[in-house]
Amino acid sequence: MHMRAEPMTVREPKKTTPPSLLPETAAPRDLVSIHDLAPAEILQLFNLTSMLKQRPADFRGVLAGKQMVMFFEKPSLRTRLTFEAGMDSLGGSAFFVDQTGSRLNARESLYDIAHNLERWIDIIVLRTFSHATVEEMATYASVPVINALSELEHPCQALADFFTLQEQFGDLQKLHFAYVGDGNNMAHSLLLAGASVGAKVSIATPERYGLNPVIVTMAKAIAEQTKAQLRILTDPHKAVAGADAVYTDAWASMGQEHEAEERAAVFAPFQVNAALMQLAKPHARFMHCLPAHRGCEVTDQVIDSVNSVVFDQAENRLHIQKAILVWILGGGVGRFRARSTHA
Ligand code: CP
Ligand code: NVA
Repeated sequence: MHMRAEPMTVREPKKTTPPSLLPETAAPRDLVSIHDLAPAEILQLFNLTSMLKQRPADFRGVLAGKQMVMFFEKPSLRTRLTFEAGMDSLGGSAFFVDQTGSRLNARESLYDIAHNLERWIDIIVLRTFSHATVEEMATYASVPVINALSELEHPCQALADFFTLQEQFGDLQKLHFAYVGDGNNMAHSLLLAGASVGAKVSIATPERYGLNPVIVTMAKAIAEQTKAQLRILTDPHKAVAGADAVYTDAWASMGQEHEAEERAAVFAPFQVNAALMQLAKPHARFMHCLPAHRGCEVTDQVIDSVNSVVFDQAENRLHIQKAILVWILGGGVGRFRARSTHA
């Protein structure tokens, strides 16, 4: 039974089970926030992602007959194509609805849309302006909902990013991850993901463009479990000093283009250029979710350097999202661990 709920700024997590008590095959019902995954589940998801990346043929057809619908209120290159290609390679079908002309709930209520979709479709993927739209759909629909970017979070990207870092460095608990720039959806999901994997996370934003305090509180609660070290700063130099990875994102996100000029002036000291990268460790990787605004948040010299892993991150969107779909729709991680061990 689904009840109508008031939209909230940040939804309370559905799961409260401590990670140690979670069965290995537990599948999250929705992925609206990084917070929907317990720290132990994120590491299980990374194991499944490695299997899918190394042996894609083992998973061909595992989602045969499953159908996914994607409603996107904002443009996309990576997210749309990696979900579509990923679902296709697993044997399922993907339907894309271009929602860029009007908000998802402009023609009818989310409640009514949800109760239509759940009669036809196995999983719903949403890219929206308002985070409440994703939360409400997850509340109303009896089928799983994945957040493919809202103004508050971009969980699929942050999971792909920390999976990329695990590939690059191994033990994420020894990692110093720095993010400099806007306190936006990427910064929020990266903070929660970094806290979940037990990393040292330093985030520097201009004072007026800081992080959502509810997300910071959630991240601190996770860090108490995982022993992650979180530093919320306003000085990009302090954040980057000694870092293993330096991440940035657009200064004006989708929907904020009209603020681009004003933001460019405030964010100029946060540009990731060769001088800033020099403060990080010599091996420090440069990261960006893309699309990049070359000459603004990052220089060509940095994004095109040998230490840039931006296309590895983009590649891993495919593998992590396949793992998310298999996990949610395909019967959990345990089944596939057994399958691949005996293959
Ligand atoms: N990084 C990312 O989500 O890219 P798109 O906006 O192209 O999907
Ligand atoms: N912060 C950016 C991320 C794009 C993938 C935006 O929301 O536009």
